[in-house]
Amino acid sequence: MDYKTAYSIEDFRLIAKARLPKGLFEFIDRGNDDEIAMVENLRALENIKLVSRVLNNATIRNQSIELFGKKQLMPIAIGPTGSAGLTWFEGEIELAKAAAAKGIPFTLATSSMTSMERVVKEAGGNLWFQLYMWPERHLSHQLVQRAERAGFDALIFTVDTPVAPGREYNLRNGFTIPFKFTSQNVLDVMSHPHWLFHVIGKYLATSGLPRYVNFPEHLQSKITALPMGRSMATNESLHWDDVQQLRDLWPRKLIIKGIQHPDDAKLALQYGADAIIVSNHGGRVLDSAPSTIDILPGIVQSVKGKMNVFVDGGFRRGSDVIKALCLGADAVLLGRSTLYGTASGGQAGAEAVIELYRREIDRVLGLIGCHDVANLGPQHLFTKN
Ligand SMILES: Cc1cc2nc3c(=O)[nH]c(=O)nc-3n(C[C@H](O)[C@H](O)[C@H](O)COP(=O)(O)O)c2cc1C
Repeated sequence: MDYKTAYSIEDFRLIAKARLPKGLFEFIDRGNDDEIAMVENLRALENIKLVSRVLNNATIRNQSIELFGKKQLMPIAIGPTGSAGLTWFEGEIELAKAAAAKGIPFTLATSSMTSMERVVKEAGGNLWFQLYMWPERHLSHQLVQRAERAGFDALIFTVDTPVAPGREYNLRNGFTIPFKFTSQNVLDVMSHPHWLFHVIGKYLATSGLPRYVNFPEHLQSKITALPMGRSMATNESLHWDDVQQLRDLWPRKLIIKGIQHPDDAKLALQYGADAIIVSNHGGRVLDSAPSTIDILPGIVQSVKGKMNVFVDGGFRRGSDVIKALCLGADAVLLGRSTLYGTASGGQAGAEAVIELYRREIDRVLGLIGCHDVANLGPQHLFTKN
């Protein structure tokens, strides 16, 4: 199957599955522990039903929004995923270009394989930078200053991973940290020659094995020597003081990612954040976390009208995005789906995924009789009684 004949996110997922080595695909596709939170994100969205209002002139359908004073063509953004650069040669640039072409923001992760300056220069568009605060805080602060100089519009501070999550499938796949060559994973890579030649081969021919190029020089390592972001991603001492320091340091929009409690949303507001992302990391961290769509309304209520509230986790259809907007989210971030798109066809594959969401959002607006995403609200949700 080719991305041109993919008609759903599941189609893109299957193309990615065929193209990527199993160890890498599962790292992207799966959750952690028993994968309850990951499945719960999907199930909770499925369980919400929309109300259709008819005979309301469905010729008018607007899904553009204004976010941080800028017009955005769709109510979605690309969230941070540390591995886009492994799904395709320079995948972060491909994905960022797709986002720019479709008029939505792209977030570059700390653990990306392309330098932040190159992404700004080559992709342009509305760019956000995601930060994992390292235990050596001064190094992270230097990174933040670099992101400011590079021209990123917003900083996303991810706060939901103070300790490393359990991901047994990585161990079963021999996808260990640090990466060790075993007969199992060498066979896995060799049986995906297209990926080997077109991704790893191109890196080898240009810049060498992929590295975390945004890390400070002395910490940069090849993927054969450093975990997939893990060792540097966790910081057990994360604290609200870190938000305070970032607020003092970063003059543009500050977004806290990984909020799951209304009181933490209030604290984020108190510490000067401009927005929060209601997120359980796509069900990749705390396996007993509730689905994000279930906790969204309470969190929206706690900071209503005072800051932007975004949400992510399990959004695979335009109708899912509509449901989040009905429940008060200002926008939805995508994780895995645009990675499947990038793995399927680089920029073109990622654009095809974004276009799929655009078409589906447009269609659902028509079917429920809503003229503008700004008008979505609880009146569009079905409640039994
Ligand atoms: C492969 C992968 C890598 C990720 N890397 C990061 C990261 O580096 N930083 C971060 O804040 N979130 C990261 N996330 C979480 C996403 O930003 C997002 O919260 C999640 O994927 C949303 O759920 P969805 O994949 O169901 O859309 C990652 C997710 C995936 C699937």
